[in-house]
Amino acid sequence: MQIRKAVMADIPQIHRLVNGYAQQGLMLRRPLVMLYEQVRDFAVAVEGDRVLGCGALHILWHDLAEIRSLAVQPECRGRGVGRALVDFLVQEALDLGLARVFALTYQQEFFARCGFQVVKKETLPQKVWKECIYCEKFHACDEIAMIRYLRPVPEAESEEIPVVEIPLWVRE
Ligand SMILES: CC(C)(COP(=O)(O)OP(=O)(O)OC[C@H]1O[C@@H](n2cnc3c(N)ncnc32)[C@H](O)[C@@H]1OP(=O)(O)O)[C@@H](O)C(=O)NCCC(=O)NCCS
Repeated sequence: MQIRKAVMADIPQIHRLVNGYAQQGLMLRRPLVMLYEQVRDFAVAVEGDRVLGCGALHILWHDLAEIRSLAVQPECRGRGVGRALVDFLVQEALDLGLARVFALTYQQEFFARCGFQVVKKETLPQKVWKECIYCEKFHACDEIAMIRYLRPVPEAESEEIPVVEIPLWVRE
């Protein structure tokens, strides 16, 4: 398996993968036009030409990015593909000089295993919510907000987002 940046030829497989899970209510639907526009956000895990998984790093502010559209083919889950994609996207965030990455998710345990902590959704900056209008759950959002700090954020530089809960089931 190789993790690399996505190219246009990967998009049809990413589209099927993400929207398959979106139909199950597990993640946000992504139209083809949006995937083509945002292809540079995406990384893929591939074996030959086959996309085993995908994920995107979407920059929102000078110090903040979202990991979104993270999905692994059903038959490849539980083999480290998701974590490898998150590691790749986090490295990309570090290379760009970002201070923190967050995810809005139902996969709390997975993201905790990847070093993320739960935060109150309301503490995320307003700009995070601009795409929520596309979500069926706009009026009753039940996703969990999770954040990973990549480097200390100087007080003058940014609002710190307080961590509210360290899940007890995280084994170290
Ligand atoms: C969430 C998802 C991306 C995880 O990918 P994956 O390849 O199955 O995860 P990994 O094998 O890399 O797991 C990494 C760690 O998380 C744990 N983990 C993964 N999914 C888990 C789950 N649902 N519940 C509990 N633990 C989980 C693994 O046991 C592993 O733990 P370890 O630290 O002991 O090794 C994948 O299950 C998926 O595509 N789910 C459907 C789409 C979705 O919900 N995407 C998230 C949108 S934000």
